[in-house]
Amino acid sequence: MSLPPGFLDELKSRTSIAQVVGRKVIWDQRKSQPGKGDLWAPCPFHQEKTASFHVDDKKGYYYCFGCHAKGDALNFIKETENVSFMEAVEIMAREAGMTMPARDPKAQEKQDRRAELAAVMDQAAQFFKLQLKTGAGMAARDYLAGRGLSEEAQATWEIGFAPDGWQNLWDHLSAKGVKEDLILDAGLAKASTKGKKPYDTFRNRIIFPIRDARGRCIAFGGRAMDPDDNAKYLNSPETELFDKGRSLYNHGPAREASGKGHTLIVAEGYMDVIALAEAGFNATVAPLGTAITENQLQLLWRIAPEPIITLDGDTAGQRAAMRLIDLALPLIGPGQSLRFCVLPEGQDPDDLLKAQGAGAMRKLLENAKPLVHLLWQRETEGKQLDSPERKAALDQSLRAALSKISDSGLRNHYAAEIKHLRSELFAAQRPTREAKGWQKGNSGGRLGYASKGVAVPSTKNSLLAQSTDVEERVREAVILAILVSHPRLIGEFLADLETLELHGADHRGILAALLRHDEEQDREILSKILEAELGPEPLEKLYSLSHVQIAPAVRQGAAEELTRMTLAEELAKLEARRGVQREVEEAVEDLAGVADEGLTWRVGQAAEARDAANRKGMKDDEGDSEDRSAMSSYLQSLIDGEAWVKKRK
Ligand code: UTP
Ligand code: MN
Repeated sequence: MSLPPGFLDELKSRTSIAQVVGRKVIWDQRKSQPGKGDLWAPCPFHQEKTASFHVDDKKGYYYCFGCHAKGDALNFIKETENVSFMEAVEIMAREAGMTMPARDPKAQEKQDRRAELAAVMDQAAQFFKLQLKTGAGMAARDYLAGRGLSEEAQATWEIGFAPDGWQNLWDHLSAKGVKEDLILDAGLAKASTKGKKPYDTFRNRIIFPIRDARGRCIAFGGRAMDPDDNAKYLNSPETELFDKGRSLYNHGPAREASGKGHTLIVAEGYMDVIALAEAGFNATVAPLGTAITENQLQLLWRIAPEPIITLDGDTAGQRAAMRLIDLALPLIGPGQSLRFCVLPEGQDPDDLLKAQGAGAMRKLLENAKPLVHLLWQRETEGKQLDSPERKAALDQSLRAALSKISDSGLRNHYAAEIKHLRSELFAAQRPTREAKGWQKGNSGGRLGYASKGVAVPSTKNSLLAQSTDVEERVREAVILAILVSHPRLIGEFLADLETLELHGADHRGILAALLRHDEEQDREILSKILEAELGPEPLEKLYSLSHVQIAPAVRQGAAEELTRMTLAEELAKLEARRGVQREVEEAVEDLAGVADEGLTWRVGQAAEARDAANRKGMKDDEGDSEDRSAMSSYLQSLIDGEAWVKKRK
């Protein structure tokens, strides 16, 4: 809306800034000279005891020598009431007795109509408030007292009571001369389908008036006192005044409090808003019985850059938050986001404040999580990421989420943060799994794995332990069988063996036992020791593999040089293969948020080649040594081509 020429000048000349400011500060009598329009007060914009805030009433200007806040009367209203420019003009015009210019005839009509409806709503609010004080309101008063709402708080929040009966409000408003269609259009009564008198919307309910940002009553929320009532809360229907998705409970006061430095909080219900505000968290709002809408998010961001969403610890609350993430991602930007404060299971802010007080609430609010963490939690929680497919699925969903962020700078920061969380997750995940696997494998042994000073497997290596890979298990078995039949080689290859990562508890158990007994040179004795420590099974399993049976190096009379060469080769192949896997893993990790077609393609190729190698490896289990060398060359080609290295263009 544009203001007609001269309107603002007229408004300013009719307004005394001293009067406007005087409502919010206490003038320093000694320092001020009201006659000269020269006024001083402690600054309302920063904490101070001295009066460094100066108002020049003649020039219509204020300036603080402490914090350098400055402006005219409109600025002052904007800042202290936390309203928009046009709203400040409206406030000032009302006080100066000037009518705001109408936008156009249609808009004027609409405005008049809305003003009429709002007036009816206000009459209804008065009626409900009064009813709470009557005999009929006794149960309601008891209920409110039971919920810890003082009379003072009831007055602040204008809580009322809609008595039981079908036409209490209807009759009251009609008697006051309010036209029937206005009562119906305000959503206060509903037309009867049986041709009878319309009936009241709210009956036997506690009433919470809902006001818009400017303080006009636009709707009511009604709470049943009977826990068996089938609608705990009943809100006004949508009307010309009330658009649920564009309204917030406690909007105006919260906006003002936020302007004074309070943190903007979003709670779920009326009682939470009231409880929070009464506990000193004055900048609290709530949506009105629905999930937060895009429009409400925009309203919130007009008040504060990072509102905190409080979430009930229950699953419904969690689910609502997860949906909110999707709604918010396309809208967030630098200095426009959300935080989430997760409450203990089954508690809403009202419950928590009652049980633990404002201090506990404050602590929770201080620990509110940034949106990116909730996104991460949503994508990973409860998921077992123990296969490449599952990890790929995670990457896909993360990429999809990140791609929703429209601000590119912010998207990059999200990608970086997600990448960090991702590597943390896998770093934390790997050793734990490894440790579990180990404990199991060692259950037959007497000595701990680490007691021999065996190197703790590197985190990246241990990722391999999660996959079941036929080819690798076969190579491992051959290595172990060679060592069991040629104990002297254990000492020779000690360095390699100590850092060797193996699949499965049985293999790891054998290796650990071998390392514990690396001085034993006699294969018969060593086999007995292993059997005694691990039981017969692991070795039996090892020797039952066709590869092990046919491997020349495993045989008793095998030439030492052949055995040594085979062992060295198997160890090298295992290591090389894992190099590829590790790098593929890392490349995939890099992909989180960094879309690079070329890299994606190369990783895909590498994975395909590896799968092909695996298929051949399975067949190879039946004993086809040509396929084995084919497989090796597949792997070799990957290694030679450094398939995982991000090539420069
Ligand atoms: P809750 O069921 O969490 O209730 O609904 P509450 O806020 O904790 O209320 P008390 O403490 O039991 O009094 C949260 C919000 O959802 C809407 C209301 O706006 C309520 O404040 N709601 C809930 C409805 O609109 N209808 C309902 O039947 C229930
Ligand atoms: Mn509650």
